[in-house]
Amino acid sequence: MPSTPLLTSDPRAGYLALRTEIDAAIREVLEGPAYILGEAVSRFEAGFAAFNGARFGIGVNNGTDALHLALRALGLGAGDEVITVSHTAVATVAAIDMAGATPVLADVDPRTRTIDPKAVEALITPRTKAVIAVHLYGHPADLEALQSICAKHGLRLIEDCAQAHAAEWNGRKVGSFGHASAFSFYPTKNLGAIGDAGMVLTNDQHVADRVRLLRQYGWRAPQHSELRGWNSRLDPLQAAILSVKLKHLDAHTLRRRELAQRYLDQLADLPLVLPVVSHGCAHAYHLFVVEAADQATRDALRAHLLRAGIHAGIHYPEPVHAQPAYLGVTHGPMPVSERLARTVLSLPLYPEMTDADADRVASSVHEFYSARS
Ligand SMILES: Cc1ncc(COP(=O)(O)O)c(C=O)c1O
Repeated sequence: MPSTPLLTSDPRAGYLALRTEIDAAIREVLEGPAYILGEAVSRFEAGFAAFNGARFGIGVNNGTDALHLALRALGLGAGDEVITVSHTAVATVAAIDMAGATPVLADVDPRTRTIDPKAVEALITPRTKAVIAVHLYGHPADLEALQSICAKHGLRLIEDCAQAHAAEWNGRKVGSFGHASAFSFYPTKNLGAIGDAGMVLTNDQHVADRVRLLRQYGWRAPQHSELRGWNSRLDPLQAAILSVKLKHLDAHTLRRRELAQRYLDQLADLPLVLPVVSHGCAHAYHLFVVEAADQATRDALRAHLLRAGIHAGIHYPEPVHAQPAYLGVTHGPMPVSERLARTVLSLPLYPEMTDADADRVASSVHEFYSARS
């Protein structure tokens, strides 16, 4: 009998596990009175900012907008260069474009797969105004090195925390190390909505105030635009769902770490590069990403897993600088990003997975390598 398919992530399982609480929270919003912003949004903004140890949280439409509005609120726009990575979701780079600034792409560190501080330094010009550090897969970028580069060159540091809810750097949650940070609550994220949602966190009152204005036409009072903004309001239904899920985020993160440890133990003897955790970091394991020896092996392993009903993802198959829309973008040498695009594979990992599910994945990976030896 074919076994049940196992997805890379499974937001529906996340809903079903908390169905009673989530349904009740949705019903409360349906009762009104606020269908735009209102109590459900403010409650989640305050709760999520407190969870991360940040002073202000401003809910927006999605993570791409969170980055874009953070950039705008920090005063970045036309003529300003923003350094970030090519090995990321295209959203990181799209947000720089949306702000009217110029993306400049740096390679990643091969161990952490996050932005390489040396590559950043090599790309700094007089026009450089900011760095976006992406805590990719749930592992923090080297915040200490980036903070010192940004301080030395007078740059703004923005954290892209879309994949790193509850990840830690020296015992402190990511999201308040830079001048602002951006979170996505896309359904598959570690804290996921049932639709689109995002948030900007900052400790800077001025930046918070500007994001709040920008997300709604520059209005402090209705129908009076102080700034040129637009509409990027967090939906109250999503906010209510996220407040429910936030209560479970610590437990879910621990479960992700347990499952990741199970993979690490069981896959240790295979010719795969496994995720590492830098000293002083706590990994949020948004994705459990292994590297195969080369593209042919990665693709064959993926096909083998799929035949066993196991869906493994690729994050990401093409670095941004190699995609048609971005061919002209300025970038440094990209040996690591280009290699990762050919070799990475994301194994299933989400809190509702059982130990048996993880063991099934690990044994299927073993089967693949045994058949080749
Ligand atoms: C690293 C990264 N940055 C930004 C985003 C954008 O988030 P959203 O899809 O909510 O716009 C995502 C998620 O897709 C992401 O993974």
